Amino acid sequence: MKILVINGPNLNLLGQREPGVYGADSLDAILARLTALAIDLGVQLDTFQSNHEGALIDRLHAAMGEVDGVLINPGAYTHTSIALRDAFLATRLPFVEVHLSNVYAREAFRHKSLLADIARGQVMGFGPDSYMLGLRGLVDGLRRAR
Ligand code: DQA
Repeated sequence: MKILVINGPNLNLLGQREPGVYGADSLDAILARLTALAIDLGVQLDTFQSNHEGALIDRLHAAMGEVDGVLINPGAYTHTSIALRDAFLATRLPFVEVHLSNVYAREAFRHKSLLADIARGQVMGFGPDSYMLGLRGLVDGLRRAR
């Protein structure tokens, strides 16, 4: 089983970016932990980060027929991108949405996700553990569906 992990805008700055909100771990450190978990779970991981909406969409299109599911932290595109939502609907790739922070405890403009209702699930508020829990949920769900 192959899972694509996508990180959206500004997540390349994790560790330096608002550490009080997002913590001290870099994206590379989080992905290293996630890779170790993937080995335990017996799944292959591919990772992608971009600050560009179109690049995220192009990567999803390329993933059709190549991966079994997607774990995504869409960053601020969570709240704004109809195009990203349409890309998930078009590719029909099963996905889990993750966030480091609890977006419902933050500004009102973060309370709406344009992806949540078409996701297999959503995990937030647990810092880097949101990614770990999200990967477990995604893989378990895909295995159950087989
Ligand atoms: C985030 C939450 C978003 O609202 C924000 O724009 C981000 C990070 C999170 O992981 O908590 O960039 O997705």
